[in-house]
Amino acid sequence: MASNAQIQTVRADFLDPSLYDDTGIAGVPRLSRGTLLAALSRAFDLAEGRRPGHAQRVAYIGVYLADELGLDPTRIEEVFFGCLLHDVGMAACPAPAAEVARARREPAGLRSALASVPTGNWAEVIETLAAHCDYGAKVVRRLGLGESVARGVASHHDCWDGSGLPGAQNGERMPIVSRIVAAADRVEAMIDVEGSPLVVRRRGPQLVTDMAGSELDPAIAERMAALAIRDEFWLGFYDNDLAATLMSLNYGGIMNREELFDFLTVISDVVDARNGREAGRGRRVADFAHNVALACDVTERRADLVTVAALLQDIGTLGVPANVLSKPDILTIDEMSSVQLHPIYARDILSEIPGLGAPAWWVGCHHERVDGKGYPGMLEGEEVPLEAQIIGICEAFDALTSDRPYRKAMGGADAIEVLRGLSGTRFDPYVIERFESAAGPFA
Ligand SMILES: [Fe+2]
Ligand SMILES: [Fe+2]
Ligand SMILES: [Fe+2]
Repeated sequence: MASNAQIQTVRADFLDPSLYDDTGIAGVPRLSRGTLLAALSRAFDLAEGRRPGHAQRVAYIGVYLADELGLDPTRIEEVFFGCLLHDVGMAACPAPAAEVARARREPAGLRSALASVPTGNWAEVIETLAAHCDYGAKVVRRLGLGESVARGVASHHDCWDGSGLPGAQNGERMPIVSRIVAAADRVEAMIDVEGSPLVVRRRGPQLVTDMAGSELDPAIAERMAALAIRDEFWLGFYDNDLAATLMSLNYGGIMNREELFDFLTVISDVVDARNGREAGRGRRVADFAHNVALACDVTERRADLVTVAALLQDIGTLGVPANVLSKPDILTIDEMSSVQLHPIYARDILSEIPGLGAPAWWVGCHHERVDGKGYPGMLEGEEVPLEAQIIGICEAFDALTSDRPYRKAMGGADAIEVLRGLSGTRFDPYVIERFESAAGPFA
């Protein structure tokens, strides 16, 4: 059993901001779309109820297959993004019935998925599956990743033999990028079900061959079966550094500051959709947080990172069951515990992104309170980073001045009065005073 000293060491490590912060903060890092999405895909895995890294492993299989099939570099990039984002639509779906949720996780196309669902519920399953495909394709278009990627996401549950969602295309009428995304998702899910790498290595080629002509394009299945007997493929698949390898491909081009903010605004809207909030709210809060950061004498470069943190603050809610997020009633203790994990999920996901260590720490602290009654770390006073408080106060102001199902929006002056009442408990008095000076024109 761990001694008290050991437990304290663990707690101290968990709460040590130096693990995340970058003392020579250099403003928004130069990130490619591929690097960012490879990391953020872990949040989409949470929404899909998959083992962490599912989307990344699908991308690895897809890119490997696309390369083996001799696709040109542009198509390979499209496969990469289609694979990473195939289930981004799940992030915004309303809470599904249990059997719908199970069917969506089936390691196969629509036909096999429906086999696990009572006949009477097929319509609901098909409707939900179609909704996440459509929504996912819309997100891809908004991210500017192109029609080919959008179609790959829209058709990832379709099968070679035409059994798929209404309007599914079959055979070679399904674009090659779509066929590879669908195949990579099914192969990864099949590997996941088998569990042991040794069993997968032995049975994999036959399992893939069995899907040829029904679930999968026979040519893709044949190539996959050939890949599955190569050690080199499996060593890459089970490599602990798979995420870093995918990020280092830098697909999709490096984004400048404005492009990064616009890209993250789309992600923020996905998170808001899951939380039942209107699109555009995340960007509004983030722009406000940027102004408040400057009013707190934070440097322009650091203020840009506050914008990034504000846009991604609630990405961890993708790991909270949708029915808990939308529950109109008081939460049970278990439900509350799952909600309180969202800053931790977000911190862990963001800390994987080069140059976003500091925002990862701030996001992890955005529900801390200066009186020590916040979560998840119960930090106190100055332990709560200024930037985390800035994000928290802008979010609180926006919530108070927006309509809610149970109350009308407050005026700016009334909202500021409410925030003043939180001085010394939720927020440091300095942050409230600086917030007021920045909010002047809005209040
Ligand atoms: Fe799906
Ligand atoms: Fe999947
Ligand atoms: Fe939050």
